[in-house]
Amino acid sequence: RQQQALQIAIDGPAGAGKSTVAKLLAKQLNLFYVDTGAMYRAIAYKALMNKVPLEDEHSVTQIAKSAEVVLDHSAEGTVWCDGENVTQAIRNPEISRAVSTVAAYVGVRERLVELQRWEAKRGGVVMDGRDIGTHVLPDASLKIFLTATLQERANRRWVELEKAGKNVPYEEVAQDMQKRDRKDMEREVSPLEPAQDAVILDTTGLGVEEIVVKIVALTRRVDDDV
Ligand code: DC
Repeated sequence: RQQQALQIAIDGPAGAGKSTVAKLLAKQLNLFYVDTGAMYRAIAYKALMNKVPLEDEHSVTQIAKSAEVVLDHSAEGTVWCDGENVTQAIRNPEISRAVSTVAAYVGVRERLVELQRWEAKRGGVVMDGRDIGTHVLPDASLKIFLTATLQERANRRWVELEKAGKNVPYEEVAQDMQKRDRKDMEREVSPLEPAQDAVILDTTGLGVEEIVVKIVALTRRVDDDV
């Protein structure tokens, strides 16, 4: 029987620890890491740079269809958009605020999901996002839904921003996050929700290492079933 490449889907709200956990997992298990949020961010960045109003669904969709978004799996997770290195720029709060609007458009999602599935064909992946288990990789070997309290998630994001030299008041980070999660959960196309067969992990008070150990243990169980 042909061994199917391992696919691990990690979904959850902002700041639940998805990307930190996914990166470490990918390294330990020797899989590609695919940060789908970075793709949506790249489209939001491009729309803002081109001064396209975010409410203009048609124009934003055109941008998504024509933009060349490339994730570099080998290096530090560099994100390219039309040849420009946007790795740093897409993390700005301005982009975080804009991205949910862009991510709600069906045409934008169709295009990016196509790219994501293509990435998963190249080999085993750890893919993180909002709709990976429910829509992008419905047959993933393992689906994890990470959660944590809003306070903890906002605090993690605030610390991250501080480290990157970006001073944003904690309250602002928490409010932006809450707004974004609501938009992501209430949108019509592929809203943020756990897949029926996802394992839900509450990461409040847990360190990254502890979460990774738990997920690696779950992966072993998947291997045994194969
Ligand atoms: O994970 P992140 O914060 O970088 O994601 C940025 C935004 O993109 C988030 O608000 C929701 C959207 N997103 C999505 O709709 N579907 C995904 N698979 C990944 C991200």
